[in-house]
Amino acid sequence: MKEIFSQFLKTPIQTGSLIPSSESFAKKIVKQIDFTKNKVIVEFGPGTGPVTAQILNSLNNRNIYFAIELNSALVFELTQKFPGKKFYNDNATTIDKYLSVHKEIKADVIISSIPLSLLNETEQNFLPHMKTHQQFHLC
Ligand SMILES: C[S@@+](CC[C@H](N)C(=O)[O-])C[C@H]1O[C@@H](n2cnc3c(N)ncnc32)[C@H](O)[C@@H]1O
Repeated sequence: MKEIFSQFLKTPIQTGSLIPSSESFAKKIVKQIDFTKNKVIVEFGPGTGPVTAQILNSLNNRNIYFAIELNSALVFELTQKFPGKKFYNDNATTIDKYLSVHKEIKADVIISSIPLSLLNETEQNFLPHMKTHQQFHLC
């Protein structure tokens, strides 16, 4: 909570919200995902990780998970909080680069907490055209 608050003060537009998602909201979103039928799970804008925690609890051995977060301070925090998991400090629009790192060509599920209203035009045009089976936009 303190970290998202201080990041909001530094980069309000990019961070988008002062308050992290609640555990119950994160659980509700993640409950809708079938982790057995969907292999590649990608999270955009994990922030301080409330949704990440629920995703990681649900992963099985077959799943591939990584997240892309624009804010380097939050990436540092996520890496400390969830050791061994992949958090890339980049724009979500670069997803293809990271899919190829994991030898994949598309994500099966994208969970995005990036506030749609705050994306620039290029980013807004990019997101709906992602070749995914399922997308969850939380903001
Ligand atoms: C509203 S916060 C959501 C945090 C968290 N997922 C939650 O539910 O509390 C949005 C996050 O998206 C990140 N973000 C904004 N634009 C982004 C972009 N184009 N690519 C990747 N991350 C982005 C921000 O840095 C911020 O951490």
